[in-house]
Amino acid sequence: MASTLNRLTYAARQTARVAWYAGHYAAGRRLLKPMPKPAYPVGPTPSRAEMTADMRGLFEREWQDIAQGLFPAPRPLAPDPAEFLRRSLLYFRDLPQVDARRHGKLDGELPPGQQGDGLPGYYRQNFHFQSDGWLSDQSARLYDTQVEVLFTGAADVMRRRALKPIAEWLQSRNQRSLKALDVGCGTGRLLASLHQAWPGLRLVGLDLSPPYLVEARRLIGRTARVKLIEGAAEALPFDDGNLDLVVSSFLMHELPSAVRSRALSEMARVLKPDGLVVVVDSMQKSDHPAWDGLLDLFPHYFHEPYYADYVSGSLEASAKEAGLTLFSSERAFLSKVAAFTKN
Ligand SMILES: C[S@@+](CC[C@H](N)C(=O)[O-])C[C@H]1O[C@@H](n2cnc3c(N)ncnc32)[C@H](O)[C@@H]1O
Repeated sequence: MASTLNRLTYAARQTARVAWYAGHYAAGRRLLKPMPKPAYPVGPTPSRAEMTADMRGLFEREWQDIAQGLFPAPRPLAPDPAEFLRRSLLYFRDLPQVDARRHGKLDGELPPGQQGDGLPGYYRQNFHFQSDGWLSDQSARLYDTQVEVLFTGAADVMRRRALKPIAEWLQSRNQRSLKALDVGCGTGRLLASLHQAWPGLRLVGLDLSPPYLVEARRLIGRTARVKLIEGAAEALPFDDGNLDLVVSSFLMHELPSAVRSRALSEMARVLKPDGLVVVVDSMQKSDHPAWDGLLDLFPHYFHEPYYADYVSGSLEASAKEAGLTLFSSERAFLSKVAAFTKN
């Protein structure tokens, strides 16, 4: 009985999220001016019904893992209801600026490397055409809504698929003695899910953006179990073999190829010999060839300078070059969750 109730609660919460963000998506499409189609060839794309069924399958897989006791059902990570609504309003107020960028009207707001704050040039861009790139409080407040609208409410569940390989790896370990790092933690959604599932883990979130780290602290709250630090994925401020677990979500595709390789090598370097790395990011070409067209279209409609390069490569092959061995891999709707151990 309790389990039926839990399942219903889980289903109701996830359905409400998907409906909320799908509503934003539909409203947003009406507000954005249509863009010309890309001038390059585009692979096959799925129907909306196929995508909805695939997303439903992802929630079902998560529920099965919860029912088997691998990790607890997620509790809502939303800010208070008033703030939640304010963020939706902010999202819609910002859309005209996003649209102007999509149509090339607000170019050059963040010239790479010219503002003298030590941030790398590749980083100073309006990724996703979002206002202020990664560089302001306003951007940090908008980010979660933007990402959930893009994925019609499935961003958090894709991130949470990292919990499955972690749960399997944790079975023979005591969480209280383990130290984990989230590389490019952004607003802290994955960190918060890890903290909910295993409150004994000592977690560190690292990101180049101070405003995103402030937002992550607000989401997670004050706890000595979760530290947040400013730093770069390609130069992790940890000694060799210092960490038991390293995770990262939706960072890899934002990095130029050489930086991405360095970031993976850094993850391998800071990992203990029996540690685990889990990367959540976009699926890549050949992970689900019938959907390859989505990967072709994404960087055209959303400013993603390194995405085409990322999806044409293989995360598994790059990780192998960095000294990591594949532990498990799962396509999770539009993402891939790949876990690795150290060679
Ligand atoms: C697409 S967001 C992903 C954030 C978060 N992990 C998530 O799941 O939503 C990319 C994040 O990576 C950060 N970032 C980008 N390049 C970085 C780098 N070289 N080192 C550390 N963080 C970086 C950005 O500031 C941003 O917060």
